[in-house]
Amino acid sequence: MAKRIIITIDGWSSCGKSTLAKQLSKKLGYVYVDSGAMYRAITLYFMRNDVDWTDKKEVKKALKSIELEFIKNEKTRQGEMYLNGENVEYLIRELVVAEKVSDVAAIKEVREFAVAQQQKMGAKKGIVMDGRDIGTVVFPKAELKIFMTADNAVRVERRFKELYAKNPNITVEEVKNNLEMRDYIDSHREISPLRKAKDALVLDNTYLTPDEQFEAALKWFKEGM
Ligand code: DC
Repeated sequence: MAKRIIITIDGWSSCGKSTLAKQLSKKLGYVYVDSGAMYRAITLYFMRNDVDWTDKKEVKKALKSIELEFIKNEKTRQGEMYLNGENVEYLIRELVVAEKVSDVAAIKEVREFAVAQQQKMGAKKGIVMDGRDIGTVVFPKAELKIFMTADNAVRVERRFKELYAKNPNITVEEVKNNLEMRDYIDSHREISPLRKAKDALVLDNTYLTPDEQFEAALKWFKEGM
């Protein structure tokens, strides 16, 4: 059997990380883990339960009541995020959650909680995980690390189209502000800020189609094997 590795994909918000991760996991028969979904589900729990996340005690107590699980949707063959047994895959993508998630993801206790579970998921390798700190903190020894980027305007347009399909009241301005705010907080926080790992390969997909970005990443994968 071919050697199975860990592939990490980090980068800015909405630059196609999950699209590439899904392409690679499908092709290679690897597990795909969307680490951002975990931070989003924790945020949803905090919002629903009025957890004051500036209070460490409250955060610690709340985390004890959170169980996160990815369960495969048999139709789409993709893992979906479950929070305490409830499928929250669609709820966590809403802008109300996106507006708070970067603040919640900056909390030390929240990161420790999520990272421990992510590392367990990668113990058997054969995994593609996307996020912000996967190549730097979660799997610093991963065999293939990709850092994705794309022009701001292109990223805003892509995310706007995605969100508009579900909510036609959304404006480009709202989406742009949210992306800029998240990128700022994610790259300036004290713990595990978004950084390119020294050994990560940069993939700028501003002018690439999904097929072209997939071919580029697959080439890197093959070269490393
Ligand atoms: O990938 P995403 O946009 O769904 O991630 C949502 C937020 O979660 C993102 O703004 C920052 C945070 N995040 C993080 O801090 N670390 C990760 N590994 C993944 C996401």
